[in-house]
Amino acid sequence: MSVFEPAMMGKLSVKNRIVRSATYEGLCDRNGMPTPGYGTMYRALAAGDCGTIITGFAYITRQGRAIQPLQAGIDSDDTIDAYKRVTDDVHSYGCRIIMQIAHTGRQTRSSRTGLPVVGVSRGASRYFREQPRVLSKEEIGVIAEQFVDAAARAQRAGFDGVQLHAAHGYLLHQFLLPSINRRRDEYGVDPSTGMAVRFLEEIIDGIRRQCSKTFALLVKLSGAVEGVPFSPLRFGGLISFLDSKKIDGIEISYGTMGNALNIFRGTSIPLDDILDHDPVYRLNHRPARFLWKLFAAPVLAARVKRFHPMYNLSYAEMAKKRYTSMPVISVGGFRSSDELHRVIESGKVDFISMCRPFIAEPDIAGKMMHRTTYRSYCINCNRCAVTTGSDLPTVCRRR
Ligand SMILES: Cc1cc2nc3c(=O)[nH]c(=O)nc-3n(C[C@H](O)[C@H](O)[C@H](O)COP(=O)(O)O)c2cc1C
Repeated sequence: MSVFEPAMMGKLSVKNRIVRSATYEGLCDRNGMPTPGYGTMYRALAAGDCGTIITGFAYITRQGRAIQPLQAGIDSDDTIDAYKRVTDDVHSYGCRIIMQIAHTGRQTRSSRTGLPVVGVSRGASRYFREQPRVLSKEEIGVIAEQFVDAAARAQRAGFDGVQLHAAHGYLLHQFLLPSINRRRDEYGVDPSTGMAVRFLEEIIDGIRRQCSKTFALLVKLSGAVEGVPFSPLRFGGLISFLDSKKIDGIEISYGTMGNALNIFRGTSIPLDDILDHDPVYRLNHRPARFLWKLFAAPVLAARVKRFHPMYNLSYAEMAKKRYTSMPVISVGGFRSSDELHRVIESGKVDFISMCRPFIAEPDIAGKMMHRTTYRSYCINCNRCAVTTGSDLPTVCRRR
């Protein structure tokens, strides 16, 4: 396999094996409608030789909105025309574009959505700290339909497919995690398999029924979560389940938003940006900031895993080697063309996905194509990540 040759991602033909991983844009208005800046950003990625773009997470219903105020929405037909202009433009560069669709479940705040926070079971997220109301079976059925409707809208808007966000502790992931899902009904963990895939399966089957055969369906998973012992049996079972569903691509990430800095690892923690912009930690009072840095920051720092290159590769490699013949995408810590070549040419995974390098340089795919020793400008300072809770668009804030 070669990085810069055309390939198949499930049923999609793509021009290379580089994927822009889902990245919150901060370029929609408060009703989730893409602004012109959203299109400009995606045009730059497509013009920069990226093979496949996965959009930032788009909410499928207002109750499932994230705390990021300028998140994209795909909950209404009114958005279709605006997205269609973007997908047409991206396609004119021979680039594929997939929309990531999501429901936040307990990982949001009612002050942001204007609605009660809901979840699979009781228990608040460590970061969001709001006790969710437990979803009834009827409500779960409605959300599954909202996912299907959102996928159908994405298809009408010209997207090549959707990616279900079943990673990072959002609603689909909440169902999959036995540490969160303590339901006793059919949406709970099946004692015979140790898995709880019914909700995911209903959505996958619904999308297959509703959308065309050429419309791709990807799933993003967290390979592991801190504090939850890694179970190869459960991980393998989940990948084998997706394999049986003939998913077009499985992207493997890490963690939950309860400990977001372990999803996108860094070399240090941007404390001032957190205190300036984070909706939960924001503090203006100078003495309080000083005390927070003195007492709270070390507690936060102790929980943070350090960045190392390609930090999620082992899970993706395991999935490909043992459990599936479907395309496997690895995300997390790819920074140089040398890493891409080594990993793809050795057949460890099928696609490489990057987020922060594309924020820093939208044309990084082309640079990596032309220079086999190219290294990303990104230094993993995570200033781009911790400002997403504010009204700012996602840009590289490296100083
Ligand atoms: C600013 C920012 C926004 C992100 N938005 C999303 C998102 O909308 N959906 C998602 O699944 N992951 C999101 N992520 C996580 C990335 O897709 C990716 O999994 C993670 O950053 C690791 O990849 P990297 O080392 O190439 O940055 C985001 C990360 C950052 C830094």
